[in-house]
Amino acid sequence: MASDLIAPGPLPRLAGKVALITGGARGIGETIARLFTKHGAKVVIADILDDLGQTVSENIGIEKASFVHCDVCIESDMENAVNFTINKHGKLDIMINNAAIAGALKFSILENEVADFERVLNVNVTGVFLGIKHAARVMIPARSGSIITIGSIASSVGGNTSHAYTSSKHAIVGLTKNVAAELGEYGIRANCVSPHLIITPATRPILEKFPDLYTDVYSNLKGVVHDEDDVAQASLFLAGDESKYISGHNLALDGGFSVINPSFGLFSSRFRGT
Ligand SMILES: NC(=O)c1ccc[n+]([C@@H]2O[C@H](COP(=O)([O-])OP(=O)(O)OC[C@H]3O[C@@H](n4cnc5c(N)ncnc54)[C@H](O)[C@@H]3O)[C@@H](O)[C@H]2O)c1
Repeated sequence: MASDLIAPGPLPRLAGKVALITGGARGIGETIARLFTKHGAKVVIADILDDLGQTVSENIGIEKASFVHCDVCIESDMENAVNFTINKHGKLDIMINNAAIAGALKFSILENEVADFERVLNVNVTGVFLGIKHAARVMIPARSGSIITIGSIASSVGGNTSHAYTSSKHAIVGLTKNVAAELGEYGIRANCVSPHLIITPATRPILEKFPDLYTDVYSNLKGVVHDEDDVAQASLFLAGDESKYISGHNLALDGGFSVINPSFGLFSSRFRGT
């Protein structure tokens, strides 16, 4: 009966599942790894930060988490990370494409160098393509799987981040839709989770360098603080069976930011006279 799914217990929602998480050595990826293991999953952290990735997996517990070196831009590394997961756990249920870089924040396209642009596209798009490709290689024969790619508000809104980053995050939404179209036949789902700005090791230096730029970025929903756990919880939902019919979606975690244009503000205090 459907009610079995409507009322899952709080724990564990990923019992028996195996997840591979790129960029899981710190930040949002680490938080996803910690939440997934709390929910009974075995996780493999794939990252270029070997010492940190190893320390995090040991801290989570080596019976639940392990580390494999993987530069997502290098196909043999990604192939190896998936093979490592299969050799260790016998299957791959959940692929989290989380590794990405922001690139340099330049305020004019004239200042943007091709090499910088391509570096961001290489990690953020080619890396996701390789993650999906090698996850699909083992998910297709299993005829099941959930592929989750971490997007951003920059996947749907322009003008908030660098040209390269915005381009890359739009691109992975298109890739996700294509993959959902292709792999649905095998029972494999593909979705994106797109957070607003969160303070992580990646963003802290940018926030400190441009404090004025990031004042009032959360322009809509008030009274709550957006953090890494929001991304982990949304990923948990899309990874688990509660979302069994959701595919090709880009789930915005932004308090309504990307669907509301405040420049025509019927509900702004200006009009309400408060
Ligand atoms: N922090 C935010 O405000 C924010 C907002 C929206 C979306 N995101 C997205 O969330 C994800 C995680 O961001 P974060 O803030 O935790 O960043 P982070 O820099 O703290 O963590 C990213 C991880 O990816 C790893 N990584 C980078 N390049 C890699 C490569 N070539 N191969 C393998 N691993 C690599 C890093 O070593 C690091 O461990 C990214 O996809 C990012 O675009 C972040």
